[in-house]
Amino acid sequence: MRVLLIGSGGREHAIARSVLRSARLDTLFVAPGNAGTAAHNIDLDVDDHAAVIAFCRDQAIDLVVVGPEVPLVDGIADRLGEAGIACFGPSAAAARLEGSKSFSRAFADSVGIPQPKSGTFASSDDAIAWLDEVAVPVVVKADGLAAGKGVVIPETRAETEQAIRAMLDDGQFGESSATIVLEERMHGEELSLFGISDGRTVVTLATAQDHKRVGDGDTGLNTGGMGAFAPVPGIDAERQAELAELFLAPAIQGMADAGTPFVGVLFAGLMLTEDGPRLVEYNCRFGDPEAEVILPLIQSDALELLYAAATGTLDQVVVEMSQAVAATVVVAANGYPAAPRKGVALTLPETSDGSGVTIFHAGTRSDGASLVSSGGRVLAVTGIGDTLDEALTRSYAVVDAIVASAPDDGLFARSDIGWRHARRTPPTGAQS
Ligand code: GLY
Repeated sequence: MRVLLIGSGGREHAIARSVLRSARLDTLFVAPGNAGTAAHNIDLDVDDHAAVIAFCRDQAIDLVVVGPEVPLVDGIADRLGEAGIACFGPSAAAARLEGSKSFSRAFADSVGIPQPKSGTFASSDDAIAWLDEVAVPVVVKADGLAAGKGVVIPETRAETEQAIRAMLDDGQFGESSATIVLEERMHGEELSLFGISDGRTVVTLATAQDHKRVGDGDTGLNTGGMGAFAPVPGIDAERQAELAELFLAPAIQGMADAGTPFVGVLFAGLMLTEDGPRLVEYNCRFGDPEAEVILPLIQSDALELLYAAATGTLDQVVVEMSQAVAATVVVAANGYPAAPRKGVALTLPETSDGSGVTIFHAGTRSDGASLVSSGGRVLAVTGIGDTLDEALTRSYAVVDAIVASAPDDGLFARSDIGWRHARRTPPTGAQS
């Protein structure tokens, strides 16, 4: 099979690695990729959908796998579908589950998915008036995509009004915040549930837990994610199946019933509240760094799985997941997320297949014979073990060496990934 993979992060390196293990793979192209996928990278403007289709025709591509959400929300799967090219990733209409928070909340309500009380507003006066109707603090969300920055969790009423006015009156995120969603703030442990669907059948892969804040103890600015593990301890097969029945199956059925079947990865962000699990948000792609822990646990042929989802034959595929635990720790460039340093020289230790550690590249590029950082999140180091502690110990042995070898303190990593469930590192000032 000839495959084109779109994207450039740690997620895409993890997808590439899984696809490269498939006996069914003939050739893999990655656009634009990073230094981890260098042998497969091609120069193709992935925002130019006509150019992508021309490349696919020219190269007889059998399957396009789209890693990030932006091209999906922009309709790349629709354009590929019209050209008769199989695509793993949802249509623009189905990607609204991530691309429009107001659509997602209204849809989830319509199919009975447990979620917090919310309201959608285009006027700041109406939004501020709604604050009187809810007894708890709220979360303020830009309706559209905002490069991961469109969610504000204010503490006080004054901060809430300020966030509302910044988005609605001052156009903080342009068209993305011309409409906002206000939601009751939930409390509890967050976890993510990942399923793959061909539009009708949905296969649950695993649960995972991310660490969004930049600092130890879940402190500091929000990031794309500083580390993750899978599966989440305490969520056994039965509990995972219950969560899938609540949050994956009705969404896939509802999208099919609406004539907008969802093909690809359905990533349900959940909060385990005192009143039961609630939907935080849907995403229409693998999480990053969650992909770096979920994909290594897939024991079946991952390319076969993605192709079956893209071609409506998922009911004919058996997916086997490893019983092991995977944990990944992100190595970031100093200054991330506000102003990450670029061009930090990287020295990576050798990791063999049998070592239980894989170094996934995220923001890396080759500079002559050297490897340097090119983004905020630079690497994701995944350890696999029989327990979360073992997986973390393997990952941290490599992470610590990489961070220590960086010149001028150019790199850092959180030291407490997995703190809620692992005994390895005690939390420092951790908040729940
Ligand atoms: N790690 C969170 C996300 O990918 O959305």
